[in-house]
Amino acid sequence: MGGAFFSLDDILQEVSALVLGAKITRRPKLVVGNWKMCRDYERVHELDAIAIAAGASTVNVIICPPFPLIAAALHHRPALEVGGQDCHDELEGPHTGATSAALLHGMGASHVILGHSERRSECGESDAIVCAKAAAALRAGLTAIICVGESEADRADGAAARVVTAQIEQSIPATARPGEIVIAYEPIWAIGSGATPAANEIADIHGAIRETLRTTLGARYGAMTPILYGGSVNGANASGLALTPDVDGVLVGTSSLTARDFVPIIVGVARSANAHAPESAAA
Ligand code: PGA
Repeated sequence: MGGAFFSLDDILQEVSALVLGAKITRRPKLVVGNWKMCRDYERVHELDAIAIAAGASTVNVIICPPFPLIAAALHHRPALEVGGQDCHDELEGPHTGATSAALLHGMGASHVILGHSERRSECGESDAIVCAKAAAALRAGLTAIICVGESEADRADGAAARVVTAQIEQSIPATARPGEIVIAYEPIWAIGSGATPAANEIADIHGAIRETLRTTLGARYGAMTPILYGGSVNGANASGLALTPDVDGVLVGTSSLTARDFVPIIVGVARSANAHAPESAAA
């Protein structure tokens, strides 16, 4: 990208940013609930109270249940948006057990989580696979929530930023446009452990992610892409986490399963959004 000349893509970005610019003065705050492999159908009743809190809030709340619960969750639109936890990298075909991004979108889902560390480790999903799935999600009209994060060993080696930015460079489709990608930074060691990084560590990694997004997607698209923090988020720490520079919301596992735990997170992130205007997308 460097040098004195502007590519066609740069010019298109400038034009779209000018057209959209009046509206995009800040990135939206997002709260995403990842229900993982929860096992009871009755869980959907938690969405009644969660939807009331989301509907009264200024943040966008996206609930990502297992596939069999997607249809029930969709009844809570528009207070809640609904996402899948995975999709195939093709839109249709003989892939028993797989779910198409086109089917998710056709049902009314708006998002899909991709590259969660549990899928990277349990299903052997590489960055290339995550990138191909994200490309399918974008073709289908979904927003891809791409997860990245370092292991405990990476962190001990001082390699967290390098690992995370490499994952991003290799997981984002070249065709991505504003609104199509959300990044979720989830240190693997923080997921389900009760531990979170210090605020300055999160700010450093999110800053490195922001720089990588600017390089990968171009300055303006990179500035518009939300970056979430995930890993042991709860009602007590959500507001503080969301106040951290370049944190545009949270991705929540365990504490998203009940209204009692999840609603305080929605309220906490909304409070942080009111208290602190994030960096302008036009910066
Ligand atoms: P946790 O999970 O909130 O239970 O740590 C987060 C995630 O894996 O997305």
